[in-house]
Amino acid sequence: MTLRFRPELEGVTESPLVQVATLAERTPGCIKLCYGEADLPTPEFIVRAAHDAALAGHTFYTHTAGVPELREAIAAKVHELHGVEHRPSEIICTVGGSMAIYLAIRAFVGSGDNAVIVSPAYAIYVNGVVMAGGEARQVPLARGASGFTLDVERIANAIDARTRMIVVNSPSNPTGWMITETEQRALAELAAQHDLVILSDEVYERLTFSVETAPSFSRVMAAPADRDRLIVINSFSKTYNMTGWRLGWAQASERTIRVMYAAAEFMTSNPTAMVQQAGIVALRGGEDSIRELRAHLAARRDQVIAALGALSRITLLPSQGAFYAFLGIDGLTNSAQLASTLVREAGVALAPGAAFGQSGEGHMRLCFAATENTLAEALQRLGTHSAFD
Ligand SMILES: Cc1ncc(COP(=O)(O)O)c(C=O)c1O
Repeated sequence: MTLRFRPELEGVTESPLVQVATLAERTPGCIKLCYGEADLPTPEFIVRAAHDAALAGHTFYTHTAGVPELREAIAAKVHELHGVEHRPSEIICTVGGSMAIYLAIRAFVGSGDNAVIVSPAYAIYVNGVVMAGGEARQVPLARGASGFTLDVERIANAIDARTRMIVVNSPSNPTGWMITETEQRALAELAAQHDLVILSDEVYERLTFSVETAPSFSRVMAAPADRDRLIVINSFSKTYNMTGWRLGWAQASERTIRVMYAAAEFMTSNPTAMVQQAGIVALRGGEDSIRELRAHLAARRDQVIAALGALSRITLLPSQGAFYAFLGIDGLTNSAQLASTLVREAGVALAPGAAFGQSGEGHMRLCFAATENTLAEALQRLGTHSAFD
């Protein structure tokens, strides 16, 4: 029979990252710094909370948007960090931040619409827009001597009558760029001017180096008139080393959340019941472990700078948040090919910059959320490879 797949799904291309990861899995001794997660286990008190919750009977369906106690704990944390109040009805808990991103895009973008995506960026946004039947318009960050900055004019020029959303991720995967409040205000103004929604992915907000918490759009857009224009995405994955648990959330106006959870009801329904209970415990008692993680990541970031920062072929802008070094490599035009070469010749897997859009080409992303010895060995291998020195 002829299988007539929907073009929206056929348009989702396999990431070059998957190819590198597959090759790395098949290569004995290869150090994998290509994934977007730490190699640290989930803190024990969180694991115990899930275990206890399962034994205590948290094994049934819950409200699609998550149990009220979890939504209240999220609201309390957002208030503690950013001074902004949310009602539980303005929060939906989801199967990872990924599901929240998809629901948010699906709620606003469809056939004939477009979304402007600040890039280089995690491929989920482009593919979410494509799966929703829309057009993804990637707009690169500007690059100065001291780091990346938002090019507001370029973003304004990408907007037209069918633009429904601006997507921005800060601290950024893959660049480590962190948006300033001034830049947030400029985007909020653009959104108001063109009647758009901002999708702000803040999953790395706690993993920062010069401040305790990254600036959140929820603060800059706290006024009632702005609230309808904002969806903030967050997750337990990175903050608490909980990638495999699949728990995230979105904050938005009540009417946006209502549309998102109507859709979630018939896709995943609620996130896993005992994982929600573990999430409550993580939010209430996780500050010490976050502080430790932040200190660990800061030391690993310095380790990368010390090893690769002075190499003549490498441009390394200091990361302000998240756990990636986005290495510019002199003369590099095919990052996917270099990623395979490095697996075979150096025994290190890095993510090719092209996996984050055209503006990422010429770069390799190194995830430095690894233990000190693993990272030291990988950096030693890379530093002596001809692509790097
Ligand atoms: C920027 C960004 N957003 C969202 C996610 C999704 O996280 P999760 O679905 O595990 O919450 C990731 C994961 O790598 C990410 O890097």
